Amino acid sequence: MKSNNEMLIEVDHLMKHFDIGNGKTVKAVNDISFGIRKGETLGMVGESGCGKSTAGRTLLRLYEPTAGAVKFQGQDIMTAKGSKLKALRREMQMVFQDPYASLNPRWKVENLIAEPLDIHGLAGSAKERKLQVERLLDRVGLRSDHAKRYPHEFSGGQRQRIGIARALALNPKFIVCDEPISALDVSIQAQVVNLLQDLQRDYGLTYLFIAHDLAMVKHISDRVAVMYLGKMVELASSEDLYANPKHPYTKALMSAIPVPDPDVEENKERIVLTGELPSPVNPPSGCNFRTRCPFATEKCAAEVPAFREVAPDQWAACHYA
Ligand SMILES: Nc1ncnc2c1ncn2[C@@H]1O[C@H](COP(=O)(O)OP(=O)(O)O)[C@@H](O)[C@H]1O
Ligand SMILES: [Mg+2]
Repeated sequence: MKSNNEMLIEVDHLMKHFDIGNGKTVKAVNDISFGIRKGETLGMVGESGCGKSTAGRTLLRLYEPTAGAVKFQGQDIMTAKGSKLKALRREMQMVFQDPYASLNPRWKVENLIAEPLDIHGLAGSAKERKLQVERLLDRVGLRSDHAKRYPHEFSGGQRQRIGIARALALNPKFIVCDEPISALDVSIQAQVVNLLQDLQRDYGLTYLFIAHDLAMVKHISDRVAVMYLGKMVELASSEDLYANPKHPYTKALMSAIPVPDPDVEENKERIVLTGELPSPVNPPSGCNFRTRCPFATEKCAAEVPAFREVAPDQWAACHYA
């Protein structure tokens, strides 16, 4: 989980709005800017529907953005075309939340894992292709004879290993892990997390790790980004975010997690959220958290708070952070 300051990914005012008819637009990702450092795990948390999956997919250009730019090692992903785009796609992969839905049930494992190699013309001879699949199966803790089986013959944890092998096939530098363990039994979640961490160490991978389990995200992330209604409200190292959150929404999320140290638990600030999560079709004016924020003032309704560095390497979008 080592990281230096070199950015692998730079996200600049990224927006993804979905047209849903009747002149209505879902502002799923609504102007977010941040970087992901080479070799780090950036956790991304927030309530269901706040735009995490859309952000992850738009970052990889699986969705075309409504506005904004994303750079990979200084190269603009959003304007890349042809062979340049194809080369960029090899470097960036995704592991999906639901290993049941993301693997074609009619395909044998060997074809599922080799598909990215086939698409990019990297499979080689039949023998080389088979060897590559065996090596990938071994790397994710499966056996070479699993290659001949179909997805339904595997457990949820094994299917996610197949999804990870597929993501690794092209030797990427960056992987978006979109709630990769949420659909798995608690008893096997740690095994899949350990596998992802081993792979990161061995191949120097950079992860965007999307999750809603805050405790788990702290454990595996170097830094954590908190999303609310399509916006990034806070970004800090795991330690700072958990010990000293600056945004009231982050504080509210932290209030819900028990701290092992009884003195800290006793004295920590508790914020209980009231009200409903507003619709991303009609977000509140100004700060979009203001309708649920116990500290909101007139300024919060009038002005969108800037996402600014409120402490060293800690960013928050709050007028009063
Ligand atoms: N393809 C789509 N078309 C229309 N709305 C979408 C689409 N994908 C996501 N949304 C909406 O965008 C918002 C963010 O969704 P999503 O990115 O899936 O959130 P999360 O992953 O944080 O749960 C939600 O309101 C969701 O309903
Ligand atoms: Mg999601």
